Amino acid sequence: MSAQQQTQSLSSKIDNVGVIGAGAMGHGIAQVFAQAGLNVKLNDVSLEFINGGIKRIEGNLSRSVEKGKMTLDERKMILSRVHPTESLEDFKDREFVVEAVLEKIEVKRDVFKRLDRICGKEIILASNTSSIPIAELAALVSNPYRVAGMHFFNPVPVMKLVEIVQALQTSNSTVEAIRALSIRLGKTPVVVKDTAGFVSNRVVCPMINEAIFAYEQGVASKEDIDTVMKLGMNHPMGPLELADFVGLDIVLDVLDVLYREYEDPKYRACPLLRNMVRAGYLGRKTKRGFYEYP
Ligand code: 3HC
Repeated sequence: MSAQQQTQSLSSKIDNVGVIGAGAMGHGIAQVFAQAGLNVKLNDVSLEFINGGIKRIEGNLSRSVEKGKMTLDERKMILSRVHPTESLEDFKDREFVVEAVLEKIEVKRDVFKRLDRICGKEIILASNTSSIPIAELAALVSNPYRVAGMHFFNPVPVMKLVEIVQALQTSNSTVEAIRALSIRLGKTPVVVKDTAGFVSNRVVCPMINEAIFAYEQGVASKEDIDTVMKLGMNHPMGPLELADFVGLDIVLDVLDVLYREYEDPKYRACPLLRNMVRAGYLGRKTKRGFYEYP
């Protein structure tokens, strides 16, 4: 059987997955896998980070129990499927791995090189990156056709979309395996090409940027800008609230990638956004962005 056929056949029997990164996205990804009945190993750089992620999963599930959407036994069962591990070496028995580590190319490069050494050569390696080219990560491993983007949205347990990013090297069978897996998670997958910002961030980040320009120019207050988009466009959050929610550093990273890749001035990040990131006003995660979160 060719390595490519092996990838295809594996898709139907993915039950043991690995999630790297227990932060804002990683903990949610681990939760949705465990809720779908898969066995999850959750890794991060320290046990403290992993336990922080597990605490967030516990909190999310407790809210579901309080609302009567889940029983205590179901909560217990889901949590029993999430296994913390500080050692990536433990991923050698995984049938599928997705990483949601820091959005830094050098960190992701290191993760992919290590996964290539540790995991079976036919195991699909996915990245939840919001802006790093998948082709660059795929080029680091043997059998690059098994690498793809599996882009989730925050908050992962709530948001229905998975953007599957197909790089030049990614095989159709890898895409199909991730599509099937996404459906098992109760998500709606959409396949996009490996281009800067994919579809989601190419559209949403310039919108956020434009709102920041409008705010900087004093067109309206931040609250009113958000109200316009919530009540006028039916967005669940206004763009400035959303920037705080996603993280101003992430929005800036995406805009910088769009600007560099397309060399089009329409993607130029608003100087206010850059200054806020420099000041460490990153949004909810630092308790201060456009709004304050005491
Ligand atoms: N984790 C898990 N569940 C959460 C949650 C979280 N952080 N926040 C809210 N929820 C759940 C609630 O428990 C509730 O569940 P229920 O329907 O079972 O009762 C449901 O979501 C609705 O929550 P609330 O009633 O408390 O609040 P809202 O109705 O205001 O919804 C929201 C909150 C879902 C976050 C909504 O405001 C929203 O959809 N905002 C926009 C989010 C968005 O655009 N995300 C994409 C960001 S871009 C991205 O992630 C890509 C990256 O690459 C940058």
